[in-house]
Amino acid sequence: MILPSCFPVLLVLFHAASSNLRILTIHGNQGPEPCAMTCVGTTAEADTRWTQDPLGAATNHYIITTTVNISQCGFVGTPIVTTSLHTGNSADAKKHQYIGALVSGQSTVADLNKDSFKVYLYGFHGNTFKSLPFTPTYGKAFWDVHWSASGFIC
Ligand SMILES: *[C@@H]1O[C@H](CO)[C@@H](O)[C@H](O)[C@H]1NC(C)=O
Repeated sequence: MILPSCFPVLLVLFHAASSNLRILTIHGNQGPEPCAMTCVGTTAEADTRWTQDPLGAATNHYIITTTVNISQCGFVGTPIVTTSLHTGNSADAKKHQYIGALVSGQSTVADLNKDSFKVYLYGFHGNTFKSLPFTPTYGKAFWDVHWSASGFIC
C-alpha cells in the first residue's frame, strides 16, 4: 500500500510548492519561499483548558491563560501567529456574549515557538460583575482561541 500512504504527503508538497504565500519578515528561520505555509486552527469549543495565572491570582487580578499546541503544523522555525477569541455556544456564554468585549488580551501571543504559544486574557470585568467570576471554569464555558500561523516547513 505504498501509493495511498504517500498520497497525502504529495498533496502537501504540491500545495506548498504552488502557494502564493510570501513572508517578508519573520523572527529568524527564513526558509525558501516554496516552504512558506499557513496553518490554521481552533482550540476545543467549550473544552479549552484555561488556567489561572499565579501572579495575577496573588495580586487579585483576573488573568487566565492557555497553551495552544501547533506542533502538527510542522514548522521548522517560529511562525507568525495571529489570534482571535471566539465566544462559544454554551448556555452561559449565549446569555452573556458581550463579556468577550470586556476582556483584553484576545490577540496576545506569548512564549511563541514552532510548537506552541500562550494566550493571556485579563477579565477586568471580574472586579465589577461578581456574578460572573473570571475563573478557568468560566473561561472554558465561554472561550476558545482561533489562530492562524504562517511560517516555513522546510
Ligand atoms: C502537542 O501535540 C502533539 C501532537 O498531537 C503531541 O505529540 C505533543 O505531545 C503535544 N505537546 C504537548 C506539550 O502537549
